[in-house]
Amino acid sequence: MDERPVSPDLQAAETKLDATLRPLDWDSYFGQSAVKQNIQILIEAAKGREEALDHVLLYGPPGLGKTTLASIIAHQMGVNLKITSGPAIERAGDLAAILTNLRRGDVLFIDEIHRLGRAVEEVLYPAMEDYALDIVIGKGPSARNIRLKLPHFTVLGATTRLDLLAAPLRDRFGAVFRLEFYTAEELRQIVTRSAAILNVPIEPEGATEIATRSRGTARIANRLLKRARDFAQVRANGVITQAVANEALALMHVDALGLDDLDKKVLRSIIEKFGGGPVGLETIAASISEESSTIMDVVEPYLLQLGFLDRTPRGRVATPRAYEHLGLTPSERPSQPSLF
Ligand SMILES: Nc1ncnc2c1ncn2[C@@H]1O[C@H](COP(=O)(O)OP(=O)(O)O)[C@@H](O)[C@H]1O
Ligand SMILES: [Mg+2]
Repeated sequence: MDERPVSPDLQAAETKLDATLRPLDWDSYFGQSAVKQNIQILIEAAKGREEALDHVLLYGPPGLGKTTLASIIAHQMGVNLKITSGPAIERAGDLAAILTNLRRGDVLFIDEIHRLGRAVEEVLYPAMEDYALDIVIGKGPSARNIRLKLPHFTVLGATTRLDLLAAPLRDRFGAVFRLEFYTAEELRQIVTRSAAILNVPIEPEGATEIATRSRGTARIANRLLKRARDFAQVRANGVITQAVANEALALMHVDALGLDDLDKKVLRSIIEKFGGGPVGLETIAASISEESSTIMDVVEPYLLQLGFLDRTPRGRVATPRAYEHLGLTPSERPSQPSLF
């Protein structure tokens, strides 16, 4: 499990914090205004027609509020929320059991929906399209198909990897929304609200400091806040001022832009060992003894977002902004041998 302070994934000891800080209504769900407005319209329309909400697919990097949206939607619709995930539904029968327990209007949240197995997807298609469950009774020559009617319900799918979702599955969603990284101002609002819930005094500059280092991600902002709270309690007088936030973040090795040691190791490897690139992912990984998948999934997205890294057909290239942030100057490139 990835325990970096700046990892966007939910960590083992965090489920309680996550639940405590999760917004339950639109007023405390900051940012994502386009998605928010679109979903509010879908909800109003469905309620007006007294129908189940359309199937909705949410995608975007981890920690931006997909699961949170699911609970707000179910709450606003006044229906039950059943939470499951692609890897949790192992067999077609598991899904059938879930589906037959749904009531009219219920929301079935399927996290990591790109990880559903083929056989399970086959059961999901008619369920989403016709609210029908096809089951086979008996075995061999006497086996027969029967079709059960299901109540009208809503599938709310979430994925970090839209590219891995089977096209037929994607096509069955009436609405598809992408969640965006948060601005520093939105994260400041999230941190301020979370601090109030956790009962920790925080100055506006302290909240801004945490917000600007949270990599555009709500979950990271809440985690850094919690660590700053502990620091303030033990090393200061409990108040998160800008100076306290600064010290706490420095102790976690999270820099002014939210980069940590691993991010810098990757950038330094490209710059110092490979002249700034282009260099292949596998080569970078080997040079710092990390898995290439770790670099691709948990390091590169944020470096790309900051414009510190370019992905070219010939490999990764560190940009001038990356040099600047690390306080390095691009060395003179050996000039191409001239033909004349
Ligand atoms: N728009 C938001 N406003 C306030 N807090 C948010 C928002 N989005 C997410 N959060 C916080 O971030 C945490 C992670 O969000 P979550 O919905 O679990 O992300 P995801 O499912 O996309 O990984 C939640 O516990 C919640 O407190
Ligand atoms: Mg989630």
